[in-house]
Amino acid sequence: MRGLIDALRRERVLPRAELAGLIREISDGDMPYLFDAARETARSRFGNRIYTRGLIEFTNYCRCDCYYCGIRRSNSRAERYRLTQAQILACCAEGYALGFRTFVLQGGEDPYFTDDRLCAVVSAIRKNHPDCAVTLSVGERSHESYKRLFEAGAERYLLRHETADPAHYGRLHPASLSAAARQACLFDLKAIGYQVGSGFMVGSPYQTVENLVADLRFLQRLRPDMIGIGPYITHAETPFAGQKNGSLALTLRLIAVLRLMFPHALLPATTALGTIHPEGREMGLKAGANVVMPNLSPTDVRALYALYENKICTGEEAAQCIGCLRRRIESAGYRVAVGRGDVKRES
Ligand code: 5AD
Ligand code: FES
Repeated sequence: MRGLIDALRRERVLPRAELAGLIREISDGDMPYLFDAARETARSRFGNRIYTRGLIEFTNYCRCDCYYCGIRRSNSRAERYRLTQAQILACCAEGYALGFRTFVLQGGEDPYFTDDRLCAVVSAIRKNHPDCAVTLSVGERSHESYKRLFEAGAERYLLRHETADPAHYGRLHPASLSAAARQACLFDLKAIGYQVGSGFMVGSPYQTVENLVADLRFLQRLRPDMIGIGPYITHAETPFAGQKNGSLALTLRLIAVLRLMFPHALLPATTALGTIHPEGREMGLKAGANVVMPNLSPTDVRALYALYENKICTGEEAAQCIGCLRRRIESAGYRVAVGRGDVKRES
């Protein structure tokens, strides 16, 4: 196994079967070796800097019906909310004062947010905070729409491919959605000039190791700037209620593998990772992740943006989470980077 880890570190690629072997068979005894290799790779590129992005979950209305997602259209028990432009700007102002220089606007595919409305929000943020970057994460839209949003000042876009295998994609989504359409959006975004983030869930229902290998290979084709992965976490009000959660160990292993394959990528230690284990995000950093995205949404809506159960930072402590996370990062031996955190992509 160590030979495979060394080869991946050196070459950044492995044949399909070897990659599958590494994911499936690495022993507990070899995990520290994998994590050390990943951490050293991150350190050689980023030092001990961790990048932060302020996450604003601005609407939980969604026209999609993804089987795994707690805010899917058919969940009639989800209490819906939508922030106004003024509320979004207030979140940014608060985030700015806390030191954030990137705002990630994430939402369901909410038809209320037409291009005109969303462009207005993006331009207003750029005008209020010219030294900040705006990242959008609002799902599949037309090329024209992506272009307008880019021109309004959004420079980055997050859209997980979810699973690269079309058949597996079909088991997680209704027939109106397809892996091909999703992937086409990602290539569109790149062609327009966005810095692009993609990613997938670990341990989603029916997922096989071969699916994960397909995910890694898709990412090699896409060459995104950011790769977000987290464990699948079940939600009672979905068709997947009662399915098993994804595993912490497998997620960490994949973060490390991604770091070796993509030394320059931004790899967030995600909220889902922090939800599945109290120290999940720190463990993610120690497996080679280098980004955290604390929640800047108003505290009263955080619990409503429930993609999955028991999401962290939704309780009484929510407002203090950011300071607490910063301390946790520092006590894990890292330092929070200042500025927009643009990371130059290798070409
Ligand atoms: N568990 C974990 N992650 C989820 N996501 C959606 N639903 C779940 C869930 N139940 C992820 C998807 C989506 C991102 C915003 O959150 O990958 O792209
Ligand atoms: Fe649209 Fe989850 S189904 S955000």
